[in-house]
Amino acid sequence: MRKPIIAGNWKMNKTPEEAAVLVKDLIPLVADAKCDVVVCPPAVCLSAVKSVVEGTNVRLGAQNVHFAEKGAFTGELSCDMLKAVGCEYVIIGHSERRQFFGETDKSVNKRTVAAVKAGLIPIICVGEMKDEREDGYTDAIVAYQTLMALTGLTPDEIKNVVVAYEPVWAIGTGLTATDEQANETIGVIRKAIEGRYGKDVADAVRIQYGGSMKGSNVKGLMSQPEIDGGLIGGASLKAADFAQVVNY
Ligand code: PGA
Repeated sequence: MRKPIIAGNWKMNKTPEEAAVLVKDLIPLVADAKCDVVVCPPAVCLSAVKSVVEGTNVRLGAQNVHFAEKGAFTGELSCDMLKAVGCEYVIIGHSERRQFFGETDKSVNKRTVAAVKAGLIPIICVGEMKDEREDGYTDAIVAYQTLMALTGLTPDEIKNVVVAYEPVWAIGTGLTATDEQANETIGVIRKAIEGRYGKDVADAVRIQYGGSMKGSNVKGLMSQPEIDGGLIGGASLKAADFAQVVNY
């Protein structure tokens, strides 16, 4: 049985002070959660959030990580830096990074491998654009993005990663994939993993849905057999909204 995991991606929102308030409000609301709960604030907020979540069931994640240990990579952060401020998870290859910051399947792979080797759990984002779905390429794209990201990991390492299926057209748009669409495409991702690494690996990997997931649609999505959780943007920025998703 896969334990569901709900993660909040705060994107470029909240100062350290605001982040601490948000997570302080959140903690009592999600204390009895049956799923793993993760918050991914901006990097400058990680320390502030860490000191608040310490000793609770809320885990800390970052929104990106570089693959090098250190060096001349202005603006980037290493795995060791993230671990030093309490991160256990890191989002990799979010579509906003792919669209706006030149992230490629190759760089997603390098970041993923570095994160796993360093003991961080990657939340690897994959998903098709609107025209790609309309032209019938969704399955090929999500399978390719997923397998590329996992290249170089051992089967045991792969069992521990989290994949987030986020159709790009559903992110921040209010449009959500239907429960069945999300379930079906996540099933395609799992089959692709099974094809390369076998059924026991595919059965262990947790695959989230992301894209306008919120209190009003979480139940339907989470009742689908393939969907193991959510990566939540907009609805993670208010404690009560995020708690509603976590406590689906
Ligand atoms: P959204 O974002 O929930 O605001 O659509 C999800 C994400 O980008 O991870």
